[in-house]
Amino acid sequence: MVCPRKNMIGTSEITHRESNFTVWPNTGYTGEYLTHYIQVWNADLRIPTFPLTLIDGFAGGGLYLNSQDNSPYPGSPLRLIKTAEAAAAAVNVKRQEGGVRTQFTLRAEYFFIEKKQSNYEYLSRYLSEQGLSSRFNSDIFLLHGKFTERLNEIIARISKRKRRCIFLLDQYGYSNVPFGAIRTIFSRLPNAEIILTFATDWLIDYMSNDDKHLKTLQRIGIDQELNIDGLLGEKSDNKNWRQIVQFELHRVIELQSGAKHYTPFFIVSKKPNRSFCLVHLSNNPRARDVMT
Ligand SMILES: C[S@@+](CC[C@H](N)C(=O)[O-])C[C@H]1O[C@@H](n2cnc3c(N)ncnc32)[C@H](O)[C@@H]1O
Repeated sequence: MVCPRKNMIGTSEITHRESNFTVWPNTGYTGEYLTHYIQVWNADLRIPTFPLTLIDGFAGGGLYLNSQDNSPYPGSPLRLIKTAEAAAAAVNVKRQEGGVRTQFTLRAEYFFIEKKQSNYEYLSRYLSEQGLSSRFNSDIFLLHGKFTERLNEIIARISKRKRRCIFLLDQYGYSNVPFGAIRTIFSRLPNAEIILTFATDWLIDYMSNDDKHLKTLQRIGIDQELNIDGLLGEKSDNKNWRQIVQFELHRVIELQSGAKHYTPFFIVSKKPNRSFCLVHLSNNPRARDVMT
């Protein structure tokens, strides 16, 4: 499998230990966001606890190797846990420095979903090696299967306890997160935030009106909104064609997500036509402000 995100600017190339594919874990962006998020939502010094559920819907195998020097690089699951814990510790340090007696506790729980059996097993082994197995099924949940197949049980668990939640949907390409699933999340969890990667360049490269491509667009729910014939018709005589399609894709992603607030980030690749976008979706203006 070719990942659209290798050789990103400002990154080193990372190779997955077992399956030997190269991938750029986008957790750098998400980690920064999470740190900021925990600090902003807990700026009120009287808040003693903060219940938060983090869902990594495309968790990966947990560990990468830098192909330049073979150094290990933790994937999103361990990085999310460590980042959240460091951010909570920083809130407490700040409180102590300010003479605030109320101790802060982050009540976080983590769901890591992975479809591929070998990645799932590797992730489980890796997190165990990191000393986390005693937390499995307590505050760390490893789920094998497709994100969409495990979504309902996660939503039910969160909605019962009215927790804040962030979904990290770090898919390859663009075809594994149906927009219907995103709308379901927002309708059942109004406070949810979603960080979605979407390989716009990949979609543009493969854009065609053949049945296979149209079925993929139908599966994710953008076939009706995206005027493929119209866009393909403009291709030959418009030198800004890629840009036009990019804009159109953003319009469609925003519309089909059903989110009130849409913040796109364009992640540029050194390789031509291999850029992708990361979008933050929420219904809460404060959540949008934290992201920007
Ligand atoms: C881009 S990688 C994730 C990288 C990971 N977020 C990180 O930064 O370490 C995508 C992962 O999603 C898995 N995957 C693909 N389709 C999936 C699906 N429908 N549901 C859950 N996992 C899926 C792949 O096997 C792969 O391990």
